[in-house]
Amino acid sequence: MSTVVFNPFDPDFRRNPHPVYDQLRAQEPVHFTPLGFVVLTRYDDVVHTLRSNDFSRDIEKNAILPETPTRKFRRENERSKSILNLDPPDHTRLRSLVSKSFTPSAIERLRARIQQIVDTALVSARRSGRLELIEELAFPVPFQVISELLDMPTDRVDELRDWSQIITATLEPTTGVAELEKAQVAIGKMRPYLDEIISRRRKNLGADMLSSLISVEEQGERLTNDELMAFVILLYIAGHETTVNLIGNAMHALLTHPRQFAQMKSLGCTPQMVDELLRFDGPVQHTIRTPIVDTSILVDGEQVAIERGSLVLASLGAGNHDPSVFENPHLLDFSRKNANRHLSFSAGVHYCLGASLAKLEAEVVLTTLVKSFDKIEAATEPEWRDRLTIRGVTKYELSVQPLTSTR
Ligand code: HEM
Repeated sequence: MSTVVFNPFDPDFRRNPHPVYDQLRAQEPVHFTPLGFVVLTRYDDVVHTLRSNDFSRDIEKNAILPETPTRKFRRENERSKSILNLDPPDHTRLRSLVSKSFTPSAIERLRARIQQIVDTALVSARRSGRLELIEELAFPVPFQVISELLDMPTDRVDELRDWSQIITATLEPTTGVAELEKAQVAIGKMRPYLDEIISRRRKNLGADMLSSLISVEEQGERLTNDELMAFVILLYIAGHETTVNLIGNAMHALLTHPRQFAQMKSLGCTPQMVDELLRFDGPVQHTIRTPIVDTSILVDGEQVAIERGSLVLASLGAGNHDPSVFENPHLLDFSRKNANRHLSFSAGVHYCLGASLAKLEAEVVLTTLVKSFDKIEAATEPEWRDRLTIRGVTKYELSVQPLTSTR
């Protein structure tokens, strides 16, 4: 009989979920929680769930759950699903419309511009010797990059950031009606703002990603207005809400691992280092699927049944620390050969569209940061977000000593 308690509200779990993940994986890898989720923590089970056609991402359509005010609200207020919530073939059609803009070679062309944005963001820290990592670097860089990709104005950054944070709160499995109502208000403000930009762009198409979405034709099909809006909102939010946490979590890992910090300082941040940082402490801790058939998972020689329509929480964070795949999983090891097997960008058809962009941004930000200063130290303990799905630091004050040669 397992004694593991999966309590996502426990502050200790928020700070470090791995002791609980380890216990679950060892004792009860298919864990039925009192909150009504089935939590999967073994790497192979998570990958199977994400790749199998027996599992759907369209929770509203396929999950069989008690009717709650939250579900009713979600159903009544949904206008158009983004690709994140669709299954093939609708998902395939929409994803193919933008995948060209996100190929590694298309993204690599952005390197020089990302470098400029990072250099500008660090000007004041070079002078003052202090850096609020999230406010001054981790947020502005990906926000500016996605805004430029879509050719969006950046004059209402504070409002957009607030709206994004309110909307992403609804990704939490514990979301209630109050959060959904707030998100509706935020979407209600974001929509007319974007509507205006979209209708102006329709009359004056450019070389940006929004223009290609507007004009794209795939198999004779265009995006409907609602599909376009859902896509732009997803790209906009996914484009910065997660990368900010990759940078924050990575810096926390580096500042608590001086040997690895020194390695990065000497070599610069390599793609393999980014993979290992994503594996070690990824910004998205889990994702949700629902089986569309009755299914089961083998545990200790016995099949554990999972009913059609249940809510399955596939823990990416736990899979990333599964010792059967990653040796010494709690070690931050930049020489780890299979770090790129991490699940932080999910797997299967919903594998993160922006993975190459996020990795490039992290590479440029971290290389520039560690190489620009003689010394970087945490001035305060980081504050962790009160979220289960998206794991990240909200505030992280650093003291930075500029390079001797430039003083
Ligand atoms: C470190 C940063 C990032 C992380 C950890 C991350 C993580 C993820 C994960 C886990 C998923 C799949 C969720 C699921 O399977 O249910 C996903 C999907 C997606 N991501 Fe990212 N993401 C990041 C950055 C970005 C960026 C920069 C963009 C765009 C500019 C982006 C755009 C998307 C889109 C459009 C999807 C939906 C793909 C689909 O459903 O086919 N992401 N991301």
